[in-house]
Amino acid sequence: MGRKNQRLFIAADLPAPVRAALGAEQARIKSVLAGSGSSLKWVKPEHAHLTLVFIGNVDDARVPAVIDAVAADVGLSAFEATLEGAGVFPPRGAPRVLWIGIGSGAPALIELQTVMAARVEALGLPIEDRAFHPHLTIARWRESRPADRSQALGAAPNGVVARARIDGATLYQSRLSPSGPAYTALARANLTA
Ligand code: 2AM
Repeated sequence: MGRKNQRLFIAADLPAPVRAALGAEQARIKSVLAGSGSSLKWVKPEHAHLTLVFIGNVDDARVPAVIDAVAADVGLSAFEATLEGAGVFPPRGAPRVLWIGIGSGAPALIELQTVMAARVEALGLPIEDRAFHPHLTIARWRESRPADRSQALGAAPNGVVARARIDGATLYQSRLSPSGPAYTALARANLTA
């Protein structure tokens, strides 16, 4: 019998009113891009999250240790983050991801990310060593050309889309399927009120 594993990541959640504002912003961008032939697949607002650490596949036997590590007291305070501006990944060529940026609150989010990444690494789990760029993915291209970049950025927001109070980080299990991802919360670290 093969060993089982779970695909895990840690993310900061967004309050419901912020998700609603994101949904409205997605609809606005969609209507500006209508007829342009872009193949953007929009993230469901209820799935929107600020990824802190993508852990990837973890052997079932090691998942309880990850749960304990994430759930331990953080000792950081809750904070407000502005969701503002937009960008695409990767920075050159055909774009794959359209995101909204983080303005004020970015240093506190990075602090939270640093704590969570250190906890995962302390368990001996390998994590990507590329720099953390705080962002909120709102859509992904199924297929794209370099020209899609400027078109999407032209339709994307310039200013503040929403203000989100960030009061914790959640460990999620992600199951991928043709109908989209399903996320299950496994543990949560609460920030101090
Ligand atoms: P992003 O959308 O914020 O970029 C769950 O898969 C989350 O992990 C995704 O929403 C994605 O965050 C993030 N992630 C980071 N690196 C990833 C990778 N190599 N493969 C899949 N998801 C990754």
